[in-house]
Amino acid sequence: MSNRSSSRGRMVRHMFFNLLLLWSLIYDVYITGLTHDDPKEQSWNNQNLDSVPQDLDVRLRRLDLSNNFIRQLHTLVLPRLEQLDLSSNQLDLISEGAFENLARLEELNLSRNALNNNLGSNSKALRSISRLTSLDISMNGLSDNAAELYLRNKSSLDQLKMTGNTLTRLSHSLFQESKGLRAISIDDNLISVIEQGTFEPLSQLEMLNLAKNNLAHICDFKLHQVKYLNLSRNSVEFFVTREDDQSYRLEILDLSFNKLLYFPIVPKINSLKYLDLQNNMVGTLNSEAAMVTEANSLFSEIMNETIVRKNNLHSIWRQMPLIYLDLSYNHFRSFPLETLGLLSSLETLNFSYNCLQNIIWNIRNYSDSGNRRQLFFSSLKHLDLQSNGLVYISQLFLNALTQIDTLNLQDNSVQLCAFMDHLESSESTQRINHNTSCVAFEQLQTLKHLSLKENNIETLHPNTFQETSLVSLNLARNPHMVMHVSALDGVQTTLSSLIISETNMTSSDLSLPCMPALTLLNISNNYLDVIPSSLSCSPLREMDIRNNRFVSLNYSLIHALSVHLNVVYISGNYFNCCDSKWLKTLNELKINLPDITETECFSGDSRVKMTDYLKSSSVYCVFHRKTQEVHIVQMFIIASFVFVIITVFIVFTRKLCSTERSFIV
Ligand SMILES: *[C@@H]1O[C@H](CO)[C@@H](O)[C@H](O)[C@H]1NC(C)=O
Ligand SMILES: *[C@@H]1O[C@H](CO)[C@@H](O)[C@H](O)[C@H]1NC(C)=O
Ligand SMILES: *[C@@H]1O[C@H](CO)[C@@H](O)[C@H](O)[C@H]1NC(C)=O
Ligand SMILES: *[C@@H]1O[C@H](CO)[C@@H](O)[C@H](O)[C@H]1NC(C)=O
Ligand SMILES: *[C@@H]1O[C@H](CO)[C@@H](O)[C@H](O)[C@H]1NC(C)=O
Ligand SMILES: *[C@@H]1O[C@H](CO)[C@@H](O)[C@H](O)[C@H]1NC(C)=O
Ligand SMILES: *[C@@H]1O[C@H](CO)[C@@H](O)[C@H](O)[C@H]1NC(C)=O
Ligand SMILES: *[C@@H]1O[C@H](CO)[C@@H](O)[C@H](O)[C@H]1NC(C)=O
Repeated sequence: MSNRSSSRGRMVRHMFFNLLLLWSLIYDVYITGLTHDDPKEQSWNNQNLDSVPQDLDVRLRRLDLSNNFIRQLHTLVLPRLEQLDLSSNQLDLISEGAFENLARLEELNLSRNALNNNLGSNSKALRSISRLTSLDISMNGLSDNAAELYLRNKSSLDQLKMTGNTLTRLSHSLFQESKGLRAISIDDNLISVIEQGTFEPLSQLEMLNLAKNNLAHICDFKLHQVKYLNLSRNSVEFFVTREDDQSYRLEILDLSFNKLLYFPIVPKINSLKYLDLQNNMVGTLNSEAAMVTEANSLFSEIMNETIVRKNNLHSIWRQMPLIYLDLSYNHFRSFPLETLGLLSSLETLNFSYNCLQNIIWNIRNYSDSGNRRQLFFSSLKHLDLQSNGLVYISQLFLNALTQIDTLNLQDNSVQLCAFMDHLESSESTQRINHNTSCVAFEQLQTLKHLSLKENNIETLHPNTFQETSLVSLNLARNPHMVMHVSALDGVQTTLSSLIISETNMTSSDLSLPCMPALTLLNISNNYLDVIPSSLSCSPLREMDIRNNRFVSLNYSLIHALSVHLNVVYISGNYFNCCDSKWLKTLNELKINLPDITETECFSGDSRVKMTDYLKSSSVYCVFHRKTQEVHIVQMFIIASFVFVIITVFIVFTRKLCSTERSFIV
């Protein structure tokens, strides 16, 4: 009885909603005159709502109810609604029929709610909307079971976000009813197991984000279809793909912040362009050869091969179209020349924060002929070697960088060689083959950007950078550096940015050539008191002279520079208030002085804020003039006093003499 009446009730309700729908469509046509391209949207974001507002416009296409306190969701009748945002509420109960009358709903955002409750009712509600293309159920405390229930009847689902839940195990039934998925994010969960067949049937899957989980081993990567795979911040110790002849579409692989000991063994036929291995333990084994052997035997072990047949790692890496490789924060003590030399498309290599100390050219030869094997990094443009404790870099390594554009050697201990003319080429070859511990840049003819910051460089010899194409050079924080007068010869016409801060230089230590391309100069944190007048050659746009010993700046030089100047940093000097024509010029020309409020000038014994001084400069310099006047008056008084005393003395002695004489006479 009760069953039948309830079903009758449902039927009546259904008819009622259908009528309502019909009415709304007619109304819509009537009102908008058949113009359907007029999207209606309404936002109730952050309105302290504790329930869905009544009397919502039935024509709504987008409804934003995010950031409220809604706890329950009952039937919504919005037949045209396409997007519904209920994120950041306290939703824990959705009525079974809540979505039944949202015939056009495609995007549903339920993130940041409490949908780990009332699974029965909630999952029935979610099951009724199979048209959904995008679903966000992140941050709901969902368990494996809840996630599976919520993904039923989702054949149109394209995008799924389940970030920040408590999933631990992905089973092959999880995506059984959502096989059209193209993008899945299940990052920041507790996943440690992925069953066989979980992702394989999702033939459209391109983007898979599993970052911040507990995955430890990827022993059998099989996802041919995936283009983007993020496994960052798991505990992955190795990544191995079984050898097959199928092509994989993988382009981006992020394995950063894991526990890899070896390079990953990726699919043989792949499209990998971007590989992030930063913050792992690759290179812990002493030599490259040992590491390659270990990786290959692991591979054979996983493939159940009894004998190690060949160098799988190298034969796969040779075919990899990799453009970007990040190996920063690993444990390399030697540079893996033979492995990285295989990557003929590699443009950017980040090798910062390892423990290299030396880059030695110790390539094994293929034959016994004794000829050294040729090896070039023929596409490498950007090489970051920061913070490796480097003392020695083989000249043969530098010679192999035939396309190098940017070289970062910051925070190492390299010394620079003196330039050798090609006329002395026999000598220079000799030097190159010699195991000297200085670095020569003359073979790096494509080099444009070089950082030698923080290397304890002792001498910058004449023509050090000759034959390079340097555009920017950073020599900062080399506190003992002696810079030869012609150190920059050869690059003075190409240099556009020069940083010589924190080198403890005085003005007599620093002489710069005429640099007609220089637009940025940083000479901050030194002991300079004169700006090199050769800078009048340069179209400087930005200049940093902070924290030096400047008392004044050469007015005619500043005037000449002001044509191009844009920004000047000047604080931390000992400027004389009364010798500041240069500053007034900069100020009047509205050149940006970002640290002017921290800048001071000195007038007599007083310290004046530069901004105050600029407001009423006469006051401070009149004061200065007054003290001078006081001096003059004092001197006048003293002089007059002395004059009077002398006069009195003379008159007195004369009188005395005359009286004496008169006495005698
Ligand atoms: C859902 O809403 C949250 C904000 O509450 C937002 O960060 C997230 O990107 C949205 N999800 C989708 C798929 O747009
Ligand atoms: C799946 O969704 C459709 C509507 O899109 C609905 O008719 C059907 O009943 C749903 N299936 C289940 C098992 O809920
Ligand atoms: C992978 O995920 C991490 C953590 O969420 C993120 O920082 C990183 O940018 C992602 N990697 C890529 C290549 O998108
Ligand atoms: C290399 O990695 C370090 C640390 O991860 C980072 O700070 C630096 O910007 C990276 N360099 C390049 C050229 O991407
Ligand atoms: C070159 O010098 C480095 C460091 O000084 C040293 O470790 C290496 O053994 C030398 N190589 C040769 C071939 O002498
Ligand atoms: C100049 O170098 C110093 C480091 O000595 C740095 O703090 C400052 O930001 C640099 N100035 C500019 C304009 O980049
Ligand atoms: C360079 O200057 C800094 C700061 O003034 C000082 O601590 C350091 O001892 C100086 N070094 C040398 C070699 O003069
Ligand atoms: C000031 O700069 C000009 C170049 O603009 C130079 O000729 C002159 O010698 C400089 N004066 C001083 C005192 O350095």
